[in-house]
Amino acid sequence: MRCSSPTVLKIGGSVITFKDRALTPNLPAIERLAREISESQVSPLIIVHGGGSFGHPIAAEYKIADGFRESGQRVGFSKTHNAMVSLNSLVIEALLNNGLPAFSIAPSSFIVTRSGRIHYLCMDVLGQAIKLGFIPVLYGDAVFDYSYGFTILSGDQIVSRLAVELNASRIIVGVDVDGLYTSDPKMDPHAQLITKVTVSELKDLLSRIGGSSFTDVTGGMVKKVIELMVPASAGIEVLIINALKPNNVYRALKGEEVVGTRIIKG
Ligand code: IPE
Repeated sequence: MRCSSPTVLKIGGSVITFKDRALTPNLPAIERLAREISESQVSPLIIVHGGGSFGHPIAAEYKIADGFRESGQRVGFSKTHNAMVSLNSLVIEALLNNGLPAFSIAPSSFIVTRSGRIHYLCMDVLGQAIKLGFIPVLYGDAVFDYSYGFTILSGDQIVSRLAVELNASRIIVGVDVDGLYTSDPKMDPHAQLITKVTVSELKDLLSRIGGSSFTDVTGGMVKKVIELMVPASAGIEVLIINALKPNNVYRALKGEEVVGTRIIKG
């Protein structure tokens, strides 16, 4: 599919890592997703991936999301970023092996937050990369923050902001469940999948959606949805799908029918 406004694809850390095993990538999933992305031939495309067991445990150990408080955290900040660089290079390598011009761009090198929210953002590098036909591959990162010193910036906040900045056509979010449920499907067997929801309906539902069950310093599903409501309100369609199920990402990229949650304006 060729369209002038980009597609933004977020791949959750729970998809490309084993969330309960520190620093363990899910290589078969990374390789399968790279194949699916390549076969879909979608362009322009921006990929943002999460941290899973690469980012979250180190960030939590050194309390990076709470900001800079003592000198011992510096090593933790750098270790968190470095772990994300390692995970990112596995993703980049898989995409390159499938012939895709994937190019790694570190969010901490062009974004500074203020109180955890993106404040300074330099779009030049990303813009040039997209213009030249590259696929920028970003990730949730340890970033500098004007008020906290540093913090953790989630891939979801990056996705939402970039989609608005770049006037994206759509956002596809690949997670390890089929989409949004009326309650946490990992805890509640009666949880029901929400296939289509407006932003205003979502606001009502939010209080009933449970958080992620593993260490997630950026807040699990609730925070994800709060971030995604911003681009959805701006008219950018958001689709949350299960990226652990083969061909879902391929089908979503092709614009084909996929089980998931569609968040629309309204
Ligand atoms: C978190 O990014 C990155 C770090 C902890 C450094 P995300 O919040 O987007 O990651 P996932 O998708 O929830 O794992």
